[in-house]
Amino acid sequence: SKEIAIAIDGPAGSGKSTIAKAIAGRFNYIYIDSGAMYRAVTLKALQLGLDLQNEAELTLLAHTIQIQLQYKKGVCGQPELRVIVDGNDESEAIRSLEVTSNVSVVAAVAGVREAMVNLQRKMADASGVVMDGRDIGTVVLPGAELKVFLTASAEERGKRRWLELQAKGIQTDLAELTDQIRKRDLFDSTRQVNPLRQAPDAILLDTTSLTIEEVIERLMSMALEKG
Ligand code: C5P
Repeated sequence: SKEIAIAIDGPAGSGKSTIAKAIAGRFNYIYIDSGAMYRAVTLKALQLGLDLQNEAELTLLAHTIQIQLQYKKGVCGQPELRVIVDGNDESEAIRSLEVTSNVSVVAAVAGVREAMVNLQRKMADASGVVMDGRDIGTVVLPGAELKVFLTASAEERGKRRWLELQAKGIQTDLAELTDQIRKRDLFDSTRQVNPLRQAPDAILLDTTSLTIEEVIERLMSMALEKG
């Protein structure tokens, strides 16, 4: 079967990165985490003490920052992602609560998006790619052979994030986390430039009551139909 491009979009905590990583691992495709790139810009802006309301400064930063996504084969053949920002491994730092609570503001800046979309398209230039994000099916890879829009109830998504943080030894309040996720999704889906939106030709998949393995299997069979 031929190699295809797979675009996976959806709100925070819908399982995008887990599923995208697994699919890439099984098909031996490249995995591109577009959210990690907006997180990298946000982290750098915070490190430099930039004013996050200053669109010109953020745009300049996005056009000059060096972001490398590196993959190591991890457990179960699932690729493990390292995010290198201007030469430093910031894989953990880009997931901090501070970055998470500021990333949507940075990602809403038109100039930042322009720089990241260009970079993402270059990275996806090879065949056999899985990319996840918010605007992959609509803007970044409109020609992707398979587009999937993953959702789950806000309660379920909050619970997943809570469990994820719990596993890392980070104690958080479930209600607060769910509320944060709701706010981020509202911000991401109502911004002017490339909002979070299901592409007209994307397949909607509600993962609320599905296991990770069930979602992976559904996507694999969708991909095999297209390839
Ligand atoms: O996927 P993740 O939760 O890491 O994304 C972090 C943030 O980056 C999102 O809340 C959104 O504001 C932004 N983002 C985006 N477009 C993408 C991917 C992420 O605007 N394609």
